[in-house]
Amino acid sequence: MRVLLVGGGGREHALAWKLRQSPGLKLWAAPGNPGIADAATLEAVKADDIGGLCDLATRHDVELTVVGPEAPLCAGIVDALAARGLGAFGPTREAAALEGSKAFAKEFMARHGIPTGSFGAFDSAAAADRFVDASAGPLVVKADGLCAGKGVVVCDDRAEAHAAVRRMLVEREFGAAGARVVLEERLRGREASLMALSDGERVVLLASAEDHKAVHDGDRGPNTGGMGAYSPSPLCTPQVIRFVLDAVMVPTVRGMAREGRPFRGVLYAGLMLTADRGPMVLEFNCRFGDPETQVVMLRFGEDLVPWLSGAAAGRLPAGDPRWDPRVAVSVVLAAPGYPGSYPQGAPITGVEEAAALPDVAVFHAGTRRRGTELVTAGGRVLDVCALGADLGAARARAYEAVARLRFEGMHFRRDIAARGQSLARPSPS
Ligand SMILES: Nc1ncnc2c1ncn2[C@@H]1O[C@H](COP(=O)(O)OP(=O)(O)O)[C@@H](O)[C@H]1O
Ligand SMILES: [Mg+2]
Repeated sequence: MRVLLVGGGGREHALAWKLRQSPGLKLWAAPGNPGIADAATLEAVKADDIGGLCDLATRHDVELTVVGPEAPLCAGIVDALAARGLGAFGPTREAAALEGSKAFAKEFMARHGIPTGSFGAFDSAAAADRFVDASAGPLVVKADGLCAGKGVVVCDDRAEAHAAVRRMLVEREFGAAGARVVLEERLRGREASLMALSDGERVVLLASAEDHKAVHDGDRGPNTGGMGAYSPSPLCTPQVIRFVLDAVMVPTVRGMAREGRPFRGVLYAGLMLTADRGPMVLEFNCRFGDPETQVVMLRFGEDLVPWLSGAAAGRLPAGDPRWDPRVAVSVVLAAPGYPGSYPQGAPITGVEEAAALPDVAVFHAGTRRRGTELVTAGGRVLDVCALGADLGAARARAYEAVARLRFEGMHFRRDIAARGQSLARPSPS
């Protein structure tokens, strides 16, 4: 099969690594990265250049385009490819609204009885302010559109909520993405997420994974794109998984089909596990999570291509995929200053030594080549992943690999997956 992979981060490297194992595969990646170059032929087309990507897919006679990031999905890359008769894994623009518009997602959940907190959606500051004044408890203020993870303000009191409304609707801090805001009831509990593949009708859950958003050990410091992950997550007990499948994933896919925008691709549900009301949806994403995908791909126990091409074509393979019963852990190595501003271009050493360890994979998240040298080119630089018989073994192996890697100012969390060790043993997937 001839496949084009769109994107160039750690998630896409993990997908490329897994796709590569498919027999007879011819793989291109745009724009890719130096790690993906080991698995695919790179093409210098940016992930948001929809016309350029369509030309590329046509030129290489690609049968399946796998889209990593949300921006091209929300901008309609799947529709543009379909208009040229080309198949793609990912939702159409209309279906990607589950991620692209938080107001659409909340209103959709309300229409279909999918468990989520109460909310209001506003484009006028006066109306939003009235909602804040009338609210019983603390709120979360969210810009409606895509903000690369920066458009959410979790507020402790009304004053903070008013200030967030002002920043978004009056000062237009997020431009058009914040021209509408969603005000949500602030939920309490532990956060988890689950991903599922869908072909528009059927839903297949992927193995659970849990990421670590805060920059410092002990979940302290500002949020990042994710500092590491592990799979399976002990928070996702068989009961939670069953509930999310039956009460979230299946009704969402059915509802989207009924509303004339069938969802094909990966549906990612961000969840709050509340003590009194069970799992509640915080948000949907319309693509693979980063860094959850890195650990999930390590455990995916079969050829990925039939699953992605099946979802794209509207007929997923029967049954569930097999999963490696081992535990996967991924530790992100970040540039100094991240998640604030950070330097680029620092030489990286030790990648080959680390990757040569058994059951280790080093995925490139933000790297580039300078001549023959590998240098940093992003805030999250490398995802150091390992499999182990249990959490302790997987963690030990991942940190053994981390110890081989160096670049100036590199920082990482030392407690990735440690919280999993304090919880009961999870179900296998
Ligand atoms: N209703 C809510 N109650 C409590 N915390 C929330 C709520 N909604 C979002 N959050 C917190 O804010 C984070 C980001 O919100 P999310 O909806 O996932 O947006 P995005 O990932 O697009 O930034 C969540 O991971 C969660 O920690
Ligand atoms: Mg989120």
